Amino acid sequence: MLPFADTHVHLLPGRDDGPLTVDEALAMCRLLVAEGVRHAAALAHQNPSYPTNDAAALRTAVADLQPLLAARQIPLQLYPSGEIMLGPDFIDQWKAGRWLTLGDAGHALLVEMPHGQFLDLLPLADYFRPLGIRLVVAHAERYPELLFDPGLAQRWIAAGCLLQVSTSALAEPWDHTTEQALKDWAVGGFIHLLGSDGHGIDRRRPLFRQGYQQLVRWVGRAAAERIAVLWGGAILQGLPIHVPLPRPPRRTWFHRLFG
Ligand SMILES: [Fe+2]
Repeated sequence: MLPFADTHVHLLPGRDDGPLTVDEALAMCRLLVAEGVRHAAALAHQNPSYPTNDAAALRTAVADLQPLLAARQIPLQLYPSGEIMLGPDFIDQWKAGRWLTLGDAGHALLVEMPHGQFLDLLPLADYFRPLGIRLVVAHAERYPELLFDPGLAQRWIAAGCLLQVSTSALAEPWDHTTEQALKDWAVGGFIHLLGSDGHGIDRRRPLFRQGYQQLVRWVGRAAAERIAVLWGGAILQGLPIHVPLPRPPRRTWFHRLFG
């Protein structure tokens, strides 16, 4: 079985809107393993709603959870991470050591837009690139401004950004238009990482395999493995990832209408 890497899953009990208890977090970990996941970004929101979720607190939460997995023989490696909301004081908070990088590896920040807003990431990407840090756009499919503007997505990727897509969106797209846009992203090389964005065991479950299988149907096994296994595992471990510049598929009027 392939060791999938889930680069976005809320696993830290009581730290955000993810699992409420240790038992729920453990049940989520068991489900991830059943889905084929062996590496997981164990994260919580870092935003004004959860002011105590600084980097140190999230590191401690993961350090508390990992031994419980070992004791129960749940073969899942956790990587402490934060899902960080963009805001005007983003760089100040970074300088203050508040943000936790993906896998605590110091090479990537998983960022999401403030509620109801869409910001240009280029200035921030330009700030972090000389520091050897890339921005990873969490659940990138949620932003129509990005999903339906391949030129913008290309510019962000050229600036070093990576796009993370939710497995649930691949497995069960909201509508045909979104499905077609996601397929275009997949075929054009715009999808770099997968995340379940799991939050619990009874709601927003951490499902992974179905989304991966959709990717296999669209781009073939080798490309899907590169995303779900290789790049995902590498980003969590702080290893370099070289992604090719994406190519938006040329779509004829026939495909636009009937594709
Ligand atoms: Fe999330």
